[in-house]
Amino acid sequence: MPSAFAPGKCILFGEHAVVFGHPAVAVAIEQGVRVSVQGSNEWLLEGQPFEPSKHPHISHIIQNIFQYNGQPLDIDVQSSLFSAAGMGSSAALSNAFGAAMHSHLNPSTPLDPIRLAKMAHSAEATAQKGRASPTDTATSALGGCVVVSGQHVTGTRHVFDTSLETPEGSRKWAINVVDLPADIDDAWLVVGYSGTGSPTGRMVAKVASLISESPQRMEEMETIANITRAGLTALSAGNLEGLGIAMDACHESLRKLEVSTNKLDRMVSSARPHSLGAKLTGAGGGGCMVALTQDPDRVSEAIEIAGGRPLKTKLGSQGVSIL
Ligand code: MEV
Repeated sequence: MPSAFAPGKCILFGEHAVVFGHPAVAVAIEQGVRVSVQGSNEWLLEGQPFEPSKHPHISHIIQNIFQYNGQPLDIDVQSSLFSAAGMGSSAALSNAFGAAMHSHLNPSTPLDPIRLAKMAHSAEATAQKGRASPTDTATSALGGCVVVSGQHVTGTRHVFDTSLETPEGSRKWAINVVDLPADIDDAWLVVGYSGTGSPTGRMVAKVASLISESPQRMEEMETIANITRAGLTALSAGNLEGLGIAMDACHESLRKLEVSTNKLDRMVSSARPHSLGAKLTGAGGGGCMVALTQDPDRVSEAIEIAGGRPLKTKLGSQGVSIL
């Protein structure tokens, strides 16, 4: 049965700012989504009748990308990610489903992760009312460490360009990758789920409306962009302390953008004594925080004590693969 796995992602720097063309840095994580498809007598998703309107990513890929009108499919999805939590679960679902469909329909053609990333980005944009950066989808497709930006970012390797018409105008991004140095193997990320979903579309729309009410808030985006560049320099040099300091600073900026919550702030504070740095990750408003640490068990305990659910991963897992 054709099946594929796509990893989730963790944004280290630049969430929200990336929607406005500033750089973001994300790494693929060990956890992700596995999808298998097989022909069936009726359309099924996880054993239940498939309702296209409830699953916009999957419907978009079936109808608009593959323009598939063949035999009904039985689609099985297994995820080790918290969903709607800023871990890129919908991007991983789109990539894994797109890859499984590709393998089902064109079993002898190799998978092109760049085509897949663009396809999954269009599915995200459709599901998020036209506002989505390619960060989650590109990181899940390519794996490793991905830098998404409106302009070239020094010290990165360019892979492809992509664009989108959003309600705020047209946006263009360059997708770049960075090779992680060996020192990064000494560190772990502990992602902590706050227990409440993080509605990406709603949070991105909230930031867009805050900025249209008070345009000076765009300055906070510039601050995030500067922190992102400093964090990327530290990451590329294997400077874990510098990386952690930049993560702490990024959290303060995201708080000023009003996308953090009391629970996320509590989890970040609990993790910090045993971490090199900690911040919310993804859209905020709920969802997850992440800590960079060399003591992942202590940080996991601290996150649990603060009421969160921890998940440990190394930085920069492999991208989408056909199984
Ligand atoms: C979501 O994981 C990150 C945001 O920057 C939205 C996006 O990049 O599309 C908040």
